[in-house]
Amino acid sequence: MPIFLDTGNIAEIETYHQMGIIRGVTTNPSILLKAGVKGGMPAIKKRTLEIAKLIHPYPLSVEVTTNDKEQMLSQAKEFAAWTDNIVVKITIHGPNGELDNVEVIHELEKKHDVRVNVTAMMSAQQCFLAALAGATYVSIFGGRVNNMGYNSNEEIQKLRELLDDFNLPSKIIVGSTREVLNIVEWLHSGAHIVTCLPKLLEGMLVHPYSKETVQMFLRDAAETEKQL
Ligand code: E4P
Repeated sequence: MPIFLDTGNIAEIETYHQMGIIRGVTTNPSILLKAGVKGGMPAIKKRTLEIAKLIHPYPLSVEVTTNDKEQMLSQAKEFAAWTDNIVVKITIHGPNGELDNVEVIHELEKKHDVRVNVTAMMSAQQCFLAALAGATYVSIFGGRVNNMGYNSNEEIQKLRELLDDFNLPSKIIVGSTREVLNIVEWLHSGAHIVTCLPKLLEGMLVHPYSKETVQMFLRDAAETEKQL
């Protein structure tokens, strides 16, 4: 399951899903807003169900919209009940470093059988703790790690070794893609999944020299049609 799409745009998801190259979709409130989702929870639910149906049985990550402990728990349970391919995103801690989130993650996974994608993480050590708490997915934001001046590949390698050494079943998702190069590079460093911007998949597929070669084939094919 190496490639997920990091978007809430239905047309983009349709395009790459029909090609058979994506194995899941990730969203967050900022991504949904950018994809035109307005109108609070009813609008989030509508778009979520559209995407979930489109990619079923592949997983769709949807993030809670609160950092209140009880509300995170109840929203997560509500999202997970919408359809069976929903994974709930919970941030590693609150906006001011509040620690309730890890307990919420643990409770959702172990007591309520809700699959959790722990998000907004910038280091292997954060992801390691999220994995110990029982997260199904641990999301590290590779582009933001690089922007802070750290090497995302080193963090990914370190994290993969920790998960393997301690037999932790969490899957590493690397998000926050910035360049085409990120996708294969992060998978090579040990990510189980890279969730990427649609335009980067196009960048991976289309090569100027392939274009030129196809143009040559088509030109010569047309020539063979001509009578001697
Ligand atoms: C990943 O799951 C996140 O939703 C996303 O990749 C964050 O990316 P950004 O750093 O471009 O906001």
